[in-house]
Amino acid sequence: MSSSNLSFPLAWVTGANGLIGSYLLAIASRYAPGWRVRGITRADFDLLDAAAVEHEFLRDRPQLVIHCAAITVVADAHKNPALARRVNVDVTGQLAQLASDIPFACFSTDLVFDGRQGNYTEADAVNPLTVYGETKVAAEQVVLRNPRHLVVRTSINAGVTASGNRSFNEQLHRTLLSAGPGMKLFTDEFRCPIAAVETARAVWELSLKRCAGIYHVAGAKKLSRYEIGRLLAARWPDVTTTLETGSAKDFPGPPRSLDTSMDISKVQGVLSVPLPGFDEWLAGNPAERV
Ligand SMILES: NC(=O)c1ccc[n+]([C@@H]2O[C@H](COP(=O)([O-])OP(=O)(O)OC[C@H]3O[C@@H](n4cnc5c(N)ncnc54)[C@H](OP(=O)(O)O)[C@@H]3O)[C@@H](O)[C@H]2O)c1
Repeated sequence: MSSSNLSFPLAWVTGANGLIGSYLLAIASRYAPGWRVRGITRADFDLLDAAAVEHEFLRDRPQLVIHCAAITVVADAHKNPALARRVNVDVTGQLAQLASDIPFACFSTDLVFDGRQGNYTEADAVNPLTVYGETKVAAEQVVLRNPRHLVVRTSINAGVTASGNRSFNEQLHRTLLSAGPGMKLFTDEFRCPIAAVETARAVWELSLKRCAGIYHVAGAKKLSRYEIGRLLAARWPDVTTTLETGSAKDFPGPPRSLDTSMDISKVQGVLSVPLPGFDEWLAGNPAERV
């Protein structure tokens, strides 16, 4: 719990051991002063245990819920779609129902889009290519039934996690360390990467301003996987492999969403400090671990 002042309203953050949840907790005293924040982890209770969720909610009576917990790995959702639907859709539905009278913020993803267009606005049509994306579209629909509630679509988030393997930068770092002399990264797959700490402060601000509906929260610059790799590798003296250009079209796996870059002008109009591009954020935070 961030503050022990019991006169402060209570916010719940689910998935508090995860990447974005842990940053929401870490910066709560700065961006949510006047709130107590309870980070909920699996050790507190399993969100699939509907009776436990209801019991804890009715006991705590939070005044805000920021829902980060989910099956977040695309391959995991593909392997076990039933579990992905239960966690990503049913759990979200129960929490949204319990939170029907209070602000509720739920994370979604740029992978609700098929990536054929790029620079997506909140009004663009969704067309997920993966089970993960399908569960997120379904969760969005459940959340948006309540006009007080907020859906935050974000792109790949960079940061440091306790487990060391949750964020895309941690995964890329591991891959590059174990790669041979050359490693191909796609020049034709685009994302709007963002530091998780930036996502977290944006979501605190949106939530405390009681914003509702869909908001895209992502880096202000569209970058290719290759460009992202170059930016990060420059921070990693232990990486010796050479980055080479490759094409997603040569990738043997299932179809990928090639350009899920997002237009973030809606959120930029609300935030007191605009979101930077990932390159700009890295340059401005040279000592930050990524
Ligand atoms: N990070 C990104 O790049 C990114 C991009 C787009 C969208 N998002 C969305 O943003 C949200 C937060 O992502 P994240 O990267 O912070 O996720 P994460 O690091 O994978 O964390 C998710 C958390 O959910 C918890 N969780 C899953 N099932 C649970 C259950 N049944 N009961 C209790 N806890 C459970 C996990 O607990 P355990 O640790 O115990 O498994 C984990 O701590 C997610 O909705 C994700 O889809 C993230």
